[in-house]
Amino acid sequence: MAFSPQGVAAVLSNLKGRDFLSSSDLNSDQTIALLDLAVQLKNEERRIDLGNRVLGLIFNKASTRTRVSFQVAMARLGGQTVDLNPQVTQLGRGEPLEDTARVLSRFCDVMAVRTFAQNELKDYAKWASIPVVNALTDLEHPCQALADFLTIQEEFGELQGQTLAYVGDGNNVAHSLMICGALLKVNVRIGCPRGFEPLPEVLTKSLALSSGSASVEVVNDPYEAVRGAQAVYTDVWTSMGQEEETENREKAFRGFCLDMDLLSEADQRAIVLHCLPAHRGEEISAEVLECDASRVFNQAENRLHVQQALLATLLGGL
Ligand code: CP
Ligand code: NVA
Repeated sequence: MAFSPQGVAAVLSNLKGRDFLSSSDLNSDQTIALLDLAVQLKNEERRIDLGNRVLGLIFNKASTRTRVSFQVAMARLGGQTVDLNPQVTQLGRGEPLEDTARVLSRFCDVMAVRTFAQNELKDYAKWASIPVVNALTDLEHPCQALADFLTIQEEFGELQGQTLAYVGDGNNVAHSLMICGALLKVNVRIGCPRGFEPLPEVLTKSLALSSGSASVEVVNDPYEAVRGAQAVYTDVWTSMGQEEETENREKAFRGFCLDMDLLSEADQRAIVLHCLPAHRGEEISAEVLECDASRVFNQAENRLHVQQALLATLLGGL
């Protein structure tokens, strides 16, 4: 842990009222402090009661972990959530986003949005007068990355200098891992098939944020990616919204399944991570998902702790 409770509050104080749309909306110290706050909350060294604040959830895609962890986080902070989607709101009948965002800002204190385009999320942030949180877009999954690095920190104590290998699609999860890893000085190696690399602008941004203190690499050989890594991570080959590409992707990702053979290339102490939901026998074997090195359920639990820390921070409850 890097910051005392007072230090955490000082580092995080200027995030009050701000949006969290990308992992890069935090700087290195803020990311470290947020993980410290999550640990304090998880260990019950600290309790925060925000007093009846309301989180609005707008989910245009399915969700188990993100939805429930936000709901429970808000309950633990003494607040409530309203859970919305296009089927139950006028959004589904064409009410403009800019009206929805302004109306919800009059009822809620913070909003978490799961949608497709990052630009749509940015539009919510533009029109809302309350903080807007990225609950997953096609571009990023920044709350997930915070939980992932907390899980690695719990295992190894220190994050700086560890290597995280991500095998699979250069997608939203990979993007946030690259950016957040750079901020935390964790080396990140992405191993993906040709044509499924992370966006070049995300690589450029990650390299700039790491300022030479950690490496960010993209390779096309899964064994090269995993070699010697302390954490080995994978995610689905077909993300939500890409269902029509499923068949092509299954072909393209052959050889990128995280199985025992691939895992054996990693550091002997390596842990296995997956944001879930997992497809056993596709991106990960059932054996790896269930093996002693798997930390996927700790990782899922950590969604709750990091999001509680994030909500408390954005709502100025420190
Ligand atoms: N990892 C994750 O975001 O899971 P959900 O899609 O269930 O929210
Ligand atoms: N990449 C996946 C993550 C799900 C949590 C998706 O976007 O569907």
